[in-house]
Amino acid sequence: MTHSKFLWGAATASIQIEGGASARGLSNWDVFCETNGRVHAGHSALIAADHYNHLEEDVAMLKEMGLNAYRFSVSWPRIMPDGFGAVSEEGLAFYDRLINSLLDNGIEPYLTIFHWDLPYSLHLKGGWLNPDISDYISDYTKVLVDRYSDRVKHWITLNEPQCFINLSYRTGEHAPGYHVSDRELALAVHNALLSHGKISQIIKANAKSAPSITYTQAMPMSSIPLTNTEKDIEASRKRQFSISSDFAGTISVFADPIFLGAYPAEYLTRYESILPKFGRDDFNIISTPIDYLGVNIYMGDFVTAGPNGEPIVVSPKPGHAKTAYNWQVRPECMYWANRFCYERYQKPIIITENGMSGNDWIHLDGKVHDYDRIDYINRYLLELNRAMKDGVDIRGYFHWSLLDNFEWAKGYYERFGLVHVDFENGNRTMKDSAYHFGTIAKTDGKSIGADFTI
Ligand code: NOJ
Repeated sequence: MTHSKFLWGAATASIQIEGGASARGLSNWDVFCETNGRVHAGHSALIAADHYNHLEEDVAMLKEMGLNAYRFSVSWPRIMPDGFGAVSEEGLAFYDRLINSLLDNGIEPYLTIFHWDLPYSLHLKGGWLNPDISDYISDYTKVLVDRYSDRVKHWITLNEPQCFINLSYRTGEHAPGYHVSDRELALAVHNALLSHGKISQIIKANAKSAPSITYTQAMPMSSIPLTNTEKDIEASRKRQFSISSDFAGTISVFADPIFLGAYPAEYLTRYESILPKFGRDDFNIISTPIDYLGVNIYMGDFVTAGPNGEPIVVSPKPGHAKTAYNWQVRPECMYWANRFCYERYQKPIIITENGMSGNDWIHLDGKVHDYDRIDYINRYLLELNRAMKDGVDIRGYFHWSLLDNFEWAKGYYERFGLVHVDFENGNRTMKDSAYHFGTIAKTDGKSIGADFTI
């Protein structure tokens, strides 16, 4: 049997699944959940999918699906309950158990260092607005690398700064729910970038075996050319990387410094008066060479060129397909977003998230027949495969998510899992999509008429 090196994985994040809250420090999200009206129906993440007590069962399902990789994040407050200083042996041991179990089952761990659950004590010190955050996260990263790098080779630095900066400090939808000034927001962006750069250096300097490093971005303003004409393609490309008034929610404000070594010119001119003072070496640190661009992608907008070539978003047709979250089903974004990112950044891409929230329940026969998710996976993967055939260097696909989980401000309202979780008792039921995705993984896409061999 030929063994494919394409990564077939599922992804999760610590506070969204773990529970085990009494064995960790307080996080910014714990406090946000307790704040009236912030999280759907006052849900909390204290138990979540209770992965803390179902770890072996969860790894067994990854194995049953035939996946060769698993993306998870480490909870900073579980490792350092106060965010700095004392390290919890109990916390470290939990991830030892997870990593060992994955490796025993032939599943490669992809470890995300920061996926949004900030120790509350660091929030009190200013969180991402505090320039010291890059030193705090460096100390935390050093602890992870010292402990796990004998077994973990693949590191993801930050997950979606577009969200944990923009949604947390500008729109206020996410913890801590702030609406700061543009000046403070630009500072938070810069602090996040420096954090990424510094922790990349810590990984490189301390890892016990050659590491791979990925930066993972959200894909706001993903743009799909309405037609295959050069002008629609160019308008889409332009919009994809443009700086909106929502600068902390764009791709290029983060990925340009990381991969190209500088902020985009449009950002510098437009926001000159409010940008923080950069240190002399900042951009050398931020652009420390890394290995992969991680792309979390769910949807996109159709775009056409206006009279002067400017991008115009075309409204969806009445009755367009959408998920339970009301996110439009737009598989073509898998092709175009990756193509545009590869053209600009010239980095191999790993799809670190893609998936959908469905109205899933256990049917009378005891199974979860989530045919929508099956079709969604097929359509998105076919478009991904098309991008590969057109020369985009794609190395893997992680489905979001392994388990139904705590979907941030939406609490448990949305179900993104390949596996159904009963939040009353923690019972797991593999959905039809889990078996389907497993077959795709085992056949490297041949079961859906694709070919992901690399
Ligand atoms: C982005 C985030 O990384 C993840 O935490 C979230 O649950 C999914 N996308 C779905 O919204």
